[in-house]
Amino acid sequence: MKKTYGIVLIGCGHIGESHIEDIYYRDGIRIVGVVDLVEEQAQAFARKYGALSYGTDYRPYLTREDVDIVIIATYAGSHFAILKDCLAAGKHVLCEKPMTAANFHDAHRFYELVKASGPKVLIAHVLRHNQTYHHAAKLIQEGAIGDIRLIRMAQNHHTLEPKRYQSLLHDCPPIVDCGVHYIDVIRWFTGLSITSIAGVGTAIHTKPPIYDHGILTMTLSNGASAYYEAGWSKSMASENLKEFIGTRGRIRITLKENRLFDREEGDLLEYYFAEEGVYHTINIPSKYKNMWAQLLTLIEMVETDREGSPTLDEAYEAFCIALLGDRAIRENRTISVPSSLADFSTVLS
Ligand SMILES: NC(=O)c1ccc[n+]([C@@H]2O[C@H](COP(=O)([O-])OP(=O)(O)OC[C@H]3O[C@@H](n4cnc5c(N)ncnc54)[C@H](O)[C@@H]3O)[C@@H](O)[C@H]2O)c1
Repeated sequence: MKKTYGIVLIGCGHIGESHIEDIYYRDGIRIVGVVDLVEEQAQAFARKYGALSYGTDYRPYLTREDVDIVIIATYAGSHFAILKDCLAAGKHVLCEKPMTAANFHDAHRFYELVKASGPKVLIAHVLRHNQTYHHAAKLIQEGAIGDIRLIRMAQNHHTLEPKRYQSLLHDCPPIVDCGVHYIDVIRWFTGLSITSIAGVGTAIHTKPPIYDHGILTMTLSNGASAYYEAGWSKSMASENLKEFIGTRGRIRITLKENRLFDREEGDLLEYYFAEEGVYHTINIPSKYKNMWAQLLTLIEMVETDREGSPTLDEAYEAFCIALLGDRAIRENRTISVPSSLADFSTVLS
């Protein structure tokens, strides 16, 4: 790292805490300020993580020369307005996914603005910085399970904080909010495109048109199938399924907190090699949300002018496909996914 970076965190909630707790004590990092609309929340974070100041308005921080990087960890609907202010002030940005609320117009403006901006912007797809996911990606890309034929993924939350989820649901259904991660994972792991998307959504505790549970079904460019299920409900059990099935076997990721045994060994990658009928157990002591590695990726972008992971195009594409999934559910039809980024404007405008 070429210098000490002054950081401001905007949004002292659930994911804001995951960011700050992993970075506040690191060499080369100075937490200049923490901001939340709820002053007590910002104050509590400042005390706990030794921030030099706190406030309810981020704007005064943008004029300070000792601020280099802003972490945007507020709700999706506010990301674009805050991003615009940060870039106008010349600050680099680590912005939580999804890029914006479920609204293509804003997402497109976000994309165009970042493309044209001098300061660097990384969209926080934290799985891109997770060692277990990297290991699984490598095995699949090396052909360990042959040609991918089926991807099964579910990420349901038994919600014990209804207020937080109401705010998130106001901006995006769960298949968009969490779905952007897993649409990106499909593309990253397989190198295949998603060619069509359909789905169903249901309102368990919400009132339509807002739906708090959805299932996306997707066809990949080699003809394989994938599905992704996401729901936030006090009635549902939490569930985390990530399984990749190919012509020669399968790989399943089980996070360490979901392991029945040997949790201390870390995440479990279960790799079944069908041709020999052999199971391989790979333990990976990986951090689920590696916010430090993610921030270092942004710092590397700043220092070397490299692209981030995901690249802006990859994050934008994942978001656009999630929006198409939302539309497919609302209109009860299967939608073809454009093969070029430019064509999303035609389909989604
Ligand atoms: N990458 C991940 O794994 C992951 C996980 C959870 C949430 N998220 C994303 O993070 C974002 C926030 O979600 P959360 O679960 O942390 O919500 P949260 O309710 O826990 O926290 C959001 C905080 O932002 C504050 N806030 C809202 N608008 C603000 C503004 N304009 N200025 C300052 N503070 C403001 C709220 O008061 C609240 O404290 C969402 O975009 C969500 O999709 C990402």
